[in-house]
Amino acid sequence: MRKPFIAGNWKMNKIATEAADLVSKLKENVGSFKDADILICPPYTSLLAAQEAIKDSVIELGAQNMHWEANGAFTGEVSAAMLKDIGVKFVIIGHSERRKYFSETNQQVNKKIKAAISADLLPIVCVGESLEQREQQKEKEVVEKQLREGFDSLSQADLEKVTVAYEPVWAIGTGKTATGEQADQMHSFIREWFKKNFSDQAAEKLRVLYGGSVKPTNIKELIAKENIDGALVGGASLKPLDFTEIIKNSSLG
Ligand code: 13P
Repeated sequence: MRKPFIAGNWKMNKIATEAADLVSKLKENVGSFKDADILICPPYTSLLAAQEAIKDSVIELGAQNMHWEANGAFTGEVSAAMLKDIGVKFVIIGHSERRKYFSETNQQVNKKIKAAISADLLPIVCVGESLEQREQQKEKEVVEKQLREGFDSLSQADLEKVTVAYEPVWAIGTGKTATGEQADQMHSFIREWFKKNFSDQAAEKLRVLYGGSVKPTNIKELIAKENIDGALVGGASLKPLDFTEIIKNSSLG
């Protein structure tokens, strides 16, 4: 049985004072809730404020991106060690917005996963197809390539540190959610891929989150599916009441 995992991706929202305020509301709402793992991923500049604010709570801290090099002349970038140093535990890698707006490739995703694990960070690796690709019924082909190239030469031990998030691009910020059925089909495809390419045991343990317009009203349908182990939540994670309801509803599946 995989423990539900609800992660909030704040994207480019919330300055430090707003982050502290949002965390304190969330903390009050979730209390010592233990039936799901809870994560927030604020932007870099609010990580320290969030780190301070989550103290003595069940909430964990993640970042939204990182560079694969440890240090050097990479203006504007942040390394895994820098994140680790300020108490970050998780890092989102290969989000579709990074792939789309910053041309991130599967090869870069691969380097980032390896660098994150070496620095003792836990990667949340995003995969997912665009609307056009789904309309051409290429969604499995696209996700398979993202997995094959993104997870190239990773070990079983590495995989134990990883969470995968399936985020169909057409469902992000659009209010269109994949149906539980559609999402579960892809989630089981993803789990099968890990069974074939890693091991049954590693694939059984792996948590695969769904992302794309997750709300308090649709989380129950999603989490009830066998291969959906939680959610990567964008917009609704900025609303403490909605995010709390998603967390609480995630353990009812
Ligand atoms: P929304 O929940 O706003 O659709 O965003 C999903 C997402 O991209 C999470 O990483």
